[in-house]
Amino acid sequence: MKTYSIAVIPGDGTGPEVTAEALKVLRSAAAARGFGLEPHSYDFGGERYLRTGEVLPESAVADMRRHDAILLGAIGDPRVAPGILEKGILLRLRFELEQYINLRPVKLYRQRDCPLKDKGPRDVDFVVVRENNEGLYLGMGGIAFKGTPHEVATQEMVNTRRGVERCLRYAFALARQRAHRNTLLLCAKTNVLTYAHDLWWRAYNEVGARDYPDIKREYAHVDATCMWMVKNPEWFDVIVTDNMFGDIITDLGAMIQGGMGIAAGGNINPEGVSMFEPIGGSAPKYTGQKVINPLAAIMAGQMLLAQLGEAQAAAGVESAVQYVLDHQIGGLGAGQMGHSTSEVGDLVAQAVADQSSTPAG
Ligand code: IPM
Ligand code: MN
Repeated sequence: MKTYSIAVIPGDGTGPEVTAEALKVLRSAAAARGFGLEPHSYDFGGERYLRTGEVLPESAVADMRRHDAILLGAIGDPRVAPGILEKGILLRLRFELEQYINLRPVKLYRQRDCPLKDKGPRDVDFVVVRENNEGLYLGMGGIAFKGTPHEVATQEMVNTRRGVERCLRYAFALARQRAHRNTLLLCAKTNVLTYAHDLWWRAYNEVGARDYPDIKREYAHVDATCMWMVKNPEWFDVIVTDNMFGDIITDLGAMIQGGMGIAAGGNINPEGVSMFEPIGGSAPKYTGQKVINPLAAIMAGQMLLAQLGEAQAAAGVESAVQYVLDHQIGGLGAGQMGHSTSEVGDLVAQAVADQSSTPAG
């Protein structure tokens, strides 16, 4: 039997609660499809940092490389100064494991979860491909004359041709694979970032014209992209964008697909080890209350299965989530599901098992 080794980083706040439910569903999918899962838990996060003073142990990156994929709950602890855990754990893993794609599907499963007037599941179904290793997130820069009136702070937006091009290629290939509208939209700010995004613009057109002539190229400035996401989300198929803009527009995307209760993302190294996470953060105020919605973590698990090549298992989890949303769950917000966190996990795990026990399988 094929068995996958999965690193699990439950992390902070409600991370452990939702990760447990994602694992429950992954186990159900594995049983249904006849493969094995071997989870290995790692205690990275705020608690460990406060206890030991160490953000990530020396061996962490090498340890992660030994697994087939990583499932992450959430990183972020209100007791720790902003940036320490985020940069020291999340960004470090993204960078060192060269997870150069941040993949964020924006898909609405139920009309009632969409805050947009007159928009439904047919209108909200696109994917954002966010560059995940460069841009403003690299954090190059510094402060001089700190604390004086002459203080200067810089943080460079770093764009390499290699980094941009590999991200664009992934996005073009995804647009082709989706075979939806065969369209890729570059979201940038070429009218202001006339160096950084000129590189993106040229690479986009060169790569597209040469290697993806079947994919229609569209462009929108980032501010206009935000506007269209609210006004006409049905126009989008695949959006490709830089790290910072991608961070911002995917929170907007999460809201139009039903909120943080359902939104998942993948940090992908197509040639290496990828890491999947619910994008809502640690939501510390709900810790231990059993009210947080695990569907986002479950959908992160769904993306993990797809990345492992277990397409049928991934499709099974997605349709189980759709079933549970259609028949068994109230709202998507914390405390609004009409069920506890673990009951929602049970419902999805059961739906996965039920669908695969039908003869058509
Ligand atoms: C995200 C998060 C992270 C980011 C934070 C926690 C560093 O907001 O995954 O979108 O900005 O990338
Ligand atoms: Mn974000």
